[in-house]
Amino acid sequence: MEKLKFGIEGLDEILKGGIRKGSAVLVTGPPGSGKSIAAMQFIYSGAKKGVPGMFITSEETAYYLREDMASVGFDIVPLEKKGMITIVEQSVTGGRMVSIEAPLKLIQKRKIKMVVLDSLTLFEYVYGSSVNEFRKGVISFIKQMKEASITLVVTSERESDDGMRFKPEDYLFDGMVVLSMVRKGSSYERVLHVSKMRGQEHLIDLFPFQITKGGLQVFPKQIPFSLIEQDAVKKSKK
Ligand SMILES: Nc1ncnc2c1ncn2[C@@H]1O[C@H](COP(=O)(O)OP(=O)(O)OP(=O)(O)O)[C@@H](O)[C@H]1O
Ligand SMILES: [Mg+2]
Repeated sequence: MEKLKFGIEGLDEILKGGIRKGSAVLVTGPPGSGKSIAAMQFIYSGAKKGVPGMFITSEETAYYLREDMASVGFDIVPLEKKGMITIVEQSVTGGRMVSIEAPLKLIQKRKIKMVVLDSLTLFEYVYGSSVNEFRKGVISFIKQMKEASITLVVTSERESDDGMRFKPEDYLFDGMVVLSMVRKGSSYERVLHVSKMRGQEHLIDLFPFQITKGGLQVFPKQIPFSLIEQDAVKKSKK
């Protein structure tokens, strides 16, 4: 099996080398959990190694996206100039998603191999309240990407305590990485787990991670302290 590195230190170790080439992976979590940074890290690290990528943003304008990513040390503009990163703004205010044809043409022209869609909420706006139409839209998007030999990362939102409650779209992806935050005394600790990765071996534990200059860094050898403390408190109450 050919794998592509996610580009996040520690996560590639948990994934035993990365994600399968041509697969579609969901990165999900509550607001501010690091989804956009993780997704850009995938594209940015690939681009730096010579793999061209595309970042479709419906959440932020390209301008603010570049600014936010600069704050974690990702220097996007030079890679855009070289054609290694293509940012596509896909506004949700237009009602219907503008056809995927334009991005697909760019994908062919620039020999793009990695694509991010940030975020799946775009499809919710397009298909309104119909869960079936929404699923069909997502399935069709994933299929088109697979036909173009793209490795796809899509972000989606969920509440923080939803770690093991699944949403209809979760079943449509080959893999799923859940970012969340766990109470730690008077603060929070960031934790991540890989809840599925079809056709490949991976660890299923919760791992702490941090966001700093350089983006996400996962600690695959550490157990989250906050969870050890919570378990200890529960035990002592029994
Ligand atoms: N330079 C930095 N150093 C440390 N942490 C940072 C830095 N820049 C951003 N962060 C953290 O990353 C968070 C934003 O990450 P990101 O935009 O990826 O979240 P998100 O999950 O996409 O959120 P949303 O659902 O709102 O789009 C900020 O809320 C902040 O906690
Ligand atoms: Mg975001």
